[in-house]
Amino acid sequence: MRKWILILTAALFFAICMAGCESGSAESSKNENSAGENSGKESAAPVFDFESRTVTLNSGYEMPAAGLGTYALSDEECYNSVTALLEDGGRLIDTASYYGNEESVGRAIRDSDVPRKEIFVTTKIYPTEFDDPEGAIEACLERLDIGYIDLMLLHHPGDGDVEAYHALEEAVEDGKVHSIGLSNWYVEELEEFLPQVNITPAVVQNEIHPYYQEKDVVPYIQELGIVVNEYSPFGGRGHTAELFEDEVIASIAKAHDVTSAQVILRWNLQRGVVVNPGSSDPEHIRENLDIFDFELTEDEMEKISTLDRGEKHEWY
Ligand SMILES: NC(=O)c1ccc[n+]([C@@H]2O[C@H](COP(=O)([O-])OP(=O)(O)OC[C@H]3O[C@@H](n4cnc5c(N)ncnc54)[C@H](OP(=O)(O)O)[C@@H]3O)[C@@H](O)[C@H]2O)c1
Repeated sequence: MRKWILILTAALFFAICMAGCESGSAESSKNENSAGENSGKESAAPVFDFESRTVTLNSGYEMPAAGLGTYALSDEECYNSVTALLEDGGRLIDTASYYGNEESVGRAIRDSDVPRKEIFVTTKIYPTEFDDPEGAIEACLERLDIGYIDLMLLHHPGDGDVEAYHALEEAVEDGKVHSIGLSNWYVEELEEFLPQVNITPAVVQNEIHPYYQEKDVVPYIQELGIVVNEYSPFGGRGHTAELFEDEVIASIAKAHDVTSAQVILRWNLQRGVVVNPGSSDPEHIRENLDIFDFELTEDEMEKISTLDRGEKHEWY
């Protein structure tokens, strides 16, 4: 009898244990499922961290939200501008093989006290280089001479762009380039291009300013988990005065005791767009980084939104 009681107790204990274990595993698979459901609902759009002033790219690397564009800056002017940026705490520099100033950018970085890993350099290869993209990538690496490249873009669409992008993908595999992307690609171009490549671009850099806002393109790109980076935020050289003097922008600037340039850059940041305004003036470079201590209201964002007139200044 005693023996049967012992056997029954052991069986009961075993049954309770099994029920507990099953309910435990059901719980964890439910959690996994619900995590999956949530991530399905979440927006893929990259989120800015206004504390660290960075955005995390889909490649896992962090990109500063504000920096310096170097188009039309050459030799000492470029060197001095990059040096001023780094001294002021700026860490994002935008160059291109086409600008002919990668050597000056690299020299300023090497001469600075800022550790290489804190600096983020974007460069681009031009369509005329797409017939030998591997050679073009090596040439950028040589001219910059800063070890690796943080972000390399195809400068704009052209013959052989898919093959050139595949060469960028290989450069990522080889550790020569951290992140890759495109410039001057819009919705139709992206729809055709993306199915042909293996690595989703981390960044798309396009012309964006209050008179050319790309209201459909920006959210389309962001929803793909790709960071949007503007170029020519002030309309580009030769077009800046009209934007700076625009009544709406100037009045918002006055209300915040900042400049029109700062309002335009802040408007970009609040749309989740990375900014690299071009400048060779140390005062402007400092001013263009000082855009994190004020915030545009929804009403002000809306007012700037009404300024869009589809006015593109670059030819592509
Ligand atoms: N991917 C592409 O196809 C592409 C095309 C164009 C440009 N980009 C990139 O985007 C960057 C920016 O575009 P961008 O240089 O053409 O045009 P931008 O940034 O719209 O305008 C540059 C002009 O704004 C002036 N400026 C800058 N900061 C100012 C401030 N705080 N107050 C008053 N004036 C100010 C500059 O003069 P000062 O020198 O006197 O400051 C310069 O004349 C380029 O440098 C380049 O890196 C890329």
